[in-house]
Amino acid sequence: MSLNPTAFHFPFTFNMSYQKTLNIGLFGYGVVGSAVYEVLNHTPSLQASISKICIKNPDKPRNIDEAFFTVDKWQLIDNEEINVIVEMTDDAVAAIEIVRESLMRGKAVITANKKMVAEHLAELVELQRKYNVPLLYESACCASIPVIRNLEEYYDNDLLHGVEGIINGSTNFILTKLFEEKLSYPDALAEAQRLGFAESDPSLDVEGHDALNKLCLLLAHAYGILAHPSSLLCHGIHRLNPIDSEVAAAQGAQIKLVARAMKQANGQIAAFVLPQFVKPPHLLHNVRNEYNGVVLTSALADEQFFYGKGAGGFPTASAILADLSALRYDYRYEYKKMLLQEPSVLCEDVKLNVYVSFQDWQMLPVDAFEEIHEYYSGRKFHYRKGIVSLRKLLSSDWWKKEGVSLVLMETGISE
Ligand code: HSE
Repeated sequence: MSLNPTAFHFPFTFNMSYQKTLNIGLFGYGVVGSAVYEVLNHTPSLQASISKICIKNPDKPRNIDEAFFTVDKWQLIDNEEINVIVEMTDDAVAAIEIVRESLMRGKAVITANKKMVAEHLAELVELQRKYNVPLLYESACCASIPVIRNLEEYYDNDLLHGVEGIINGSTNFILTKLFEEKLSYPDALAEAQRLGFAESDPSLDVEGHDALNKLCLLLAHAYGILAHPSSLLCHGIHRLNPIDSEVAAAQGAQIKLVARAMKQANGQIAAFVLPQFVKPPHLLHNVRNEYNGVVLTSALADEQFFYGKGAGGFPTASAILADLSALRYDYRYEYKKMLLQEPSVLCEDVKLNVYVSFQDWQMLPVDAFEEIHEYYSGRKFHYRKGIVSLRKLLSSDWWKKEGVSLVLMETGISE
């Protein structure tokens, strides 16, 4: 018997008419903005078109009709025909104004601006509720990897033990070049900038702030915690010493910049960004170059691994396309985990297993370590391995100083 497709009756008719036509006002036409433009031109099925593009510098040569461009943001925000704002600037201060005004006018907003979202998330959640409009930002964390929507929709809070990931492509690119190609730090950074992965201000990447901003988004959707980035422990790769790489290599490890939010025995969440020794078979060990990787640990599924390109024009545009598509059926984040009877809270009473190298004994306070497990002392280089308190690190700054390098051991959080 052959199948007759007309004999099939679905239990419901799929009504395409509920899907909206999206009339877009685009802010920014850099690496990501121009990729969004190109991708939309090749995706007619989305029924989304760009009406106007707001840029900062009208004198830059651009490859499309100049009638698209304006420097006046109100031509987009006040245009009643535009129902979606796609905000792709790299300026968090300008971006919050654009997003705030757009949401207040009932326009849906898509943004890749992780700094802006992380610093204003409480206000942005409230604006979405008050004006009954969605703000989507899948592209703001790990670009092409759909981690935010998965955390929001799939992972129940009780079951999710932890999220740990390499969520900044530039630092991972730099560390890969340092370890595998023995490139110098300035050359590796220049290459990341040339390829368009780095932020306009690359200190946001190398000092860990970009990963921290993304961690704040993960915390909101994994655990319903709204944390301002300034309240969390964060250290980048800018203080790493070439000898640290040799210490890592001697133990079969590489150094990676890892962001994590881990449930502790008391149910509270420890969250921070630190460089970390990572060696096989850790799933993050093979995450190289600008790729990102996120490991989710849950009670029933054990470990799950998300891997993909975390930076660059087209990987970011792919997430924006997914958000645009979601807007066509009125998708919005519900921030479900904030509504739990007993919402999760952050915890600072955590013991960290760390390696600290330093050039001068005066750089290390006598009470920095709670336990010392190993030490080395040379003529110009010393290190200690042992236990430090997260709370004490948050209230001190000896570990931020030039000449000191702080790296989490593979064992990470100490029981
Ligand atoms: N500078 C960021 C990174 C871009 O390197 O990951 C993507 O968010």
